Amino acid sequence: MRTIVITGGTDGMGAALTRHFIEAGDRVVVIGRSQAKFDALTDGSAEFVGADLSLVADSRQVVDHLTARRERIDALVLAASFIRQRRHTTTEGREASWVLFFVSKYLLTTGLAGLLRAADRPVIVNTAVPGARADAIDFADLELTRGFTFRRANAQQRRANELLGITATRDIPGLSYVTWGPGRLVRTSFAGEPGLAMKTAAAVLGPLLGQRADDAVRPVVELIDNPVPGRSARRGAKEVPLVVGPDDERDAAQLST
Ligand SMILES: NC(=O)c1ccc[n+]([C@@H]2O[C@H](COP(=O)([O-])OP(=O)(O)OC[C@H]3O[C@@H](n4cnc5c(N)ncnc54)[C@H](OP(=O)(O)O)[C@@H]3O)[C@@H](O)[C@H]2O)c1
Repeated sequence: MRTIVITGGTDGMGAALTRHFIEAGDRVVVIGRSQAKFDALTDGSAEFVGADLSLVADSRQVVDHLTARRERIDALVLAASFIRQRRHTTTEGREASWVLFFVSKYLLTTGLAGLLRAADRPVIVNTAVPGARADAIDFADLELTRGFTFRRANAQQRRANELLGITATRDIPGLSYVTWGPGRLVRTSFAGEPGLAMKTAAAVLGPLLGQRADDAVRPVVELIDNPVPGRSARRGAKEVPLVVGPDDERDAAQLST
């Protein structure tokens, strides 16, 4: 029986994956904030770990919790999302989007490396949409204290997550690390404060052009059922080239630092 850990597994595409893998008979561990959403989703056969992944301390607790209770993780799906148009400082004094969309993923990926190494065919699917520019990271101001916009914060975390694959595949031999985004809009909860333009686009375009979450995640199921070792990037079911910058190794190392 495989163990599948899904952050943001209480809603949207994460919830679709939770339902799928429970039905497939896997051991599913869901990480999110809402126990009520989890209870509505499952029949008690999965485990819920409550955590606010915009807090560094919570990500560390998740790592400790899983390390103490699990022998192996076969698949880690990183799908927690809370959209913010404005810069927000957490109670830890850190920028919330940067921590939720990158630092927590870094802490889970590196902290759970031992459990992933114990799997025969380990896989990480990181739902940070691939394809951000190689120079999207402001190393001098990672928490964007100056000039925060959703677009900049989004591009920066997406690039950082593509580079995280370098660190992860080096630390976990045989790992399949995929940065994945849906092929088109998916009708999900769009948790957070997406702003009027994004809300309107989702409300108007979603019913016309949007995919159901259950359909959108089919390629993710395939990536987990048949993992291919190494780093790769996908939109929907389609493989897309990794963005290669002049200093990728150095940039990945700098992110770790
Ligand atoms: N929907 C799309 O069209 C689309 C397009 C491109 C990329 N994506 C990407 O796909 C992924 C999934 O998106 P989605 O639209 O399916 O998500 P969603 O429906 O908005 O659900 C977000 C999930 O994240 C959890 N979450 C939010 N804040 C959290 C926090 N601080 N700590 C822990 N968990 C938190 C929520 O659970 P709780 O309420 O329990 O905390 C929920 O389960 C994201 O990475 C997103 O960027 C989506």
